[in-house]
Formats: sequence, structure tokens, C-alpha cells
Amino acid sequence: MRNIIVITGSSRKNGNSDLLANAFIEGATKAGHTVSLFEAGRKNISGCVGCETCYSTENACSFNDDFNVLAPMIENSDMIVFCTPLYWYTFPAKLKAAIDKMYSFLIGRRKRKGKDAILLACGDAHNDGDFDGLSKTYELILKSIGWNDAGQLLIAKTYKIGDINKTDGLEKAKNMGLNIKDKIITI
Ligand SMILES: Cc1cc2nc3c(=O)[nH]c(=O)nc-3n(C[C@H](O)[C@H](O)[C@H](O)COP(=O)(O)O)c2cc1C
Repeated sequence: MRNIIVITGSSRKNGNSDLLANAFIEGATKAGHTVSLFEAGRKNISGCVGCETCYSTENACSFNDDFNVLAPMIENSDMIVFCTPLYWYTFPAKLKAAIDKMYSFLIGRRKRKGKDAILLACGDAHNDGDFDGLSKTYELILKSIGWNDAGQLLIAKTYKIGDINKTDGLEKAKNMGLNIKDKIITI
């Protein structure tokens, strides 16, 4: 069974990406996995300042904020799920701030391999390629950090709160949660 952390990106409570996260969590929990949730879009995380003093204290970041709660949650998980709305073709700022601070895992030479990641995303997205920037950014981040891409679910035509109910996104997210492989893929 997997230890999964779901990191959400929206500040909008009960919005489309929250519903997507809930559906995934429902499936994963039903399949017997342990799931924790970190709502990055509603936390206090400032941007990385590049001081490179990561892990010189008992915390990941010398500038204490909610990333120091998130960092050990990620380190104790073997699957990281990013669940986000599409903002300007990429991650929203608060989730991006959390991702920026994951730089501490590199600087602090933390053990990083042996984890899988998943990207769940929704956006207004009426044009082909609208998710390309987000998807490519996610893939390159994983490559740098040493995590394996275990799947991406990108749901278009979701703009207003609840629009995702009109798509097959929630059913697909639940099935992704239900069908997580037990094996940790090490790259
Ligand atoms: C600041 C901002 C930027 C956005 N940028 C995009 C975008 O680049 N492409 C897109 O398709 N939708 C964009 N959207 C629409 C959201 O992705 C969409 O409304 C999504 O369903 C919001 O998810 P949420 O309900 O979980 O917050 C943007 C919305 C906001 C508020």
C-alpha cells in the first residue's frame, strides 16, 4: 500500500480542482492506500529566495512558513499528487511557491528517488495545447527531482465552480486512485 500526499493548488474552496482531488482521494482510500492532503493554495508559503541554506536548521527552509510542514510530508510519502487549476498555462503562484521550495531537496541532498508523482489539472482550456506548458513543466520538474511520472489527467472546459461535474474528470480521477500500482518505480 502507498503513502500518498495530495497537494492542491487552488485558493477557491470546493472549486473544480478540489472536487478532482476529492475524487482521487476517494478512489485511493477505497483501494486501501494512506492519503494525506495539503492545500497549498490556502497556506502561507513565500517564494524561495535562493539563499541555499536549506536544511541548515531542523527545517527544510530557513525562512519558516508552511513549506516546513509540507517538506516532511513529502519525504514520508512514496507518491506525490499535484492537483491544480491551470493559471496562465502553468501552476498557480502559491503551489509554484511550494514547488520552488522543493529546491531544498536538491540543495540539502535529501533522498528523493523511489517516488511516483501524478498530475491532476483542470482549466477553461478551449484550445489544443492549453495544458502543454503545465504538463511539460511538471515533467521537467520530475526529471530534475528524480520522481517517476505515474500519470497525468488534464480536464478541459472547466471554468466556473462545479463545471467539472459536467465532464468525466471526476470518474477518471477516482479510477486513477483506485488503480494505483503498489510497486514503487525507482529511476
Ligand atoms: C488567475 C487565473 C488564471 C487562469 N488561467 C487560465 C489559463 O491560462 N488557461 C485556462 O484554460 N484557464 C485558466 N483559468 C481558469 C481556471 O483554470 C479554471 O477556472 C479552473 O476550473 C479553476 O479551478 P478551481 O475551481 O479549482 O479554482 C484561470 C483562472 C484564474 C483565476
